[in-house]
Parts: sequence; C-alpha cells; structure tokens
Amino acid sequence: MPTLLTSDNLPAPVMAGRDFLSNLDMSAAELRSVLDTAASMKRGEWRNVKPLSGLSLALVFEKASLRTRTTFDVGMYQLGGHAITLSNQEIGLGKRERVSDVARNLERWVDGVMGRVYLQQTLQELAENASIPVINGLSDMLHPVQLLADYQTIEEQLGGSAGKRVVYIGDGNNLANSHIQMAMLTRSSVTIVTPIGYEPNGGVLQGALQQGADVTLTNDLGAVDGADVLYTDVWISMGQESEAEMRRRAFQGYQVTPQMLERLAPDGMFLHCLPAHYGEETVPEATEHRKSRVFDQAENRLHAQKALLYHLMGGMKPRW
Ligand code: CP
Ligand code: NVA
Repeated sequence: MPTLLTSDNLPAPVMAGRDFLSNLDMSAAELRSVLDTAASMKRGEWRNVKPLSGLSLALVFEKASLRTRTTFDVGMYQLGGHAITLSNQEIGLGKRERVSDVARNLERWVDGVMGRVYLQQTLQELAENASIPVINGLSDMLHPVQLLADYQTIEEQLGGSAGKRVVYIGDGNNLANSHIQMAMLTRSSVTIVTPIGYEPNGGVLQGALQQGADVTLTNDLGAVDGADVLYTDVWISMGQESEAEMRRRAFQGYQVTPQMLERLAPDGMFLHCLPAHYGEETVPEATEHRKSRVFDQAENRLHAQKALLYHLMGGMKPRW
C-alpha cells in the first residue's frame, strides 16, 4: 500500500509558472525533483490529491501523436485538471492566425499550453506571447518531455544515470539533440552514432561540450559494446517523408537488431521513444526482446509529464 499524500504534505512546485521548451530550462536539481515526483506518482502516492483542480491545459498539435496526446490529457485529468486538444486543422497555427495572436487568446482561457510543432521558433513565439507555461511536446529540434520519461526508466532499471553509458544510434534528430542536453543535466555519458551527414545539431553539441558534458559523436557501431542503454528513433521523422528513400539508403547497417542487444552490458536495456518504423531502425524482435524496456518507457510518459505539470502549474489558482 503506498503512502498516500494529502494536500498538506505535497512537495513545493519547483518550476512554478515557467516555460519548458528544452531540458536546459531546468536545473539538475529541478530535474531531480521532477523525477522524484514522477516516481512517487507511479507508486500511486498522489491518488488522493487533485493539485491542478480547476486548471486547463491546451494541447496544440501541428503533427500526429499517440503517446504525447494521451498522456498529457490523462495526466491533466488525474491531477484534477482538464485538457483540450486543438488540431492544426482547427486552429491553423501561423496560417489561419498568427502564432502570437493564438498565444494571446489561449492565455485568457487556459492555464498552460503544450505544443507539438515543426519549428522550435513557434514554441518560442507562443512562450513570448503567453504569460502561462508553454511546454514543448516535440519540435524538429528537441523532444524534452520524452527524455524525462526516458531517464525515469533508466533510473528505475539501473538505479541512477550518472556515469551510465547511453548510446543513441540513428538520425541526429530531435531525440539525439535532447539526449545531448540530458548528458549535461545528469552526468551520463552519451554517444551519438550516426551515418556521415546525419549528425545532431552543431549548436546543441557545442553548448554541451562547453559545459563539460560527456558527449561523443561517432559513425562506429562498435560503441554499442557494453552500453548500459541503447536507444534508437525513426530514420524518417514527421515532416521528412519526401526524403524517405534517400534516408533509408543512408541508414543501412544502423538497424537495432536482437543480436545487437546481446552486446549490451549484462543489465543493459533497449529504449525507443516510439512509434517504431519496423524494418527500418529496428525490428519487432528487438522491441519484444528481454532487454527491451520500450513499453515501460512509454508508460513513464504519463508519470513524468504529470510530475512536470505539477511542478510548472501546481502553484496556480483557478482564475474563474
Ligand atoms: N514518443 C512520442 O512522442 O510518441 P507520439 O508521437 O505518439 O506522441
Ligand atoms: N523523431 C521523431 C520522433 C517521434 C516521437 C519525429 O520527430 O517524428
């Protein structure tokens, strides 16, 4: 039976009223608080409290989603709040209406905005024009909420992440960039393995190296040997469909197979943010492998984002 929290003994929200556009919008100590809260929520300790009672979150989607949409919606419900999903067909972000006007309308009705967009700049524009928290639910540059769930999973399985060797194989995309940022926050050792020409964002990498993060870039798949975490993501991200054939050719040999998983550390694990494009970056036998934790990872999207929502919005009072 979990120790049930009451409204009198909740932890203080550590990022109250802030935006979360990148993992670097939080300090290492704030990440620690969010992951501790996520673990406590997963243990069922928050069952009797509704800290976001009376609050609403708008979910704005320029792109498709299963996990992000479901977990933010269910997460708000479980915390006592409410979510409203706005597809781009409905609101035409930047087309039917300029982004700043969308932000200036939403802030009058809801208490937070989660945006899944193409350009990081769109999130910045939303954040600059709204006085309420704006959360990055994936851009072409970053996927910071995914990494919260990923590190919750790593901590559960390995008892911590500092010094653990995380090897990301595939496209130097939004996931790769966010992995690099997490190396700064957690002191994990992150190796990004890509084909030539598909490296992660240079600015993100330079920023991490300047901060002393343990990040390595390579084309050598030998990096997998003895890794604690092997991570991959799709070769063709949303919006890159016109490059599909070229990308499939470029990434030949970078597929995560069950044989590759046998090369991990004894308690090493396979993670994938999902959705998987089976036959490309991986195969069903890998996500079903005994070292795969991909469905625990997907579950943790709910716990980690509930914790984030609490720490961003937990101090707010309903305005109505
Ligand atoms: N991993 C992830 O963000 O999944 P969705 O695209 O389904 O939201
Ligand atoms: N890199 C992928 C992640 C999907 C969750 C994309 O951007 O489509």
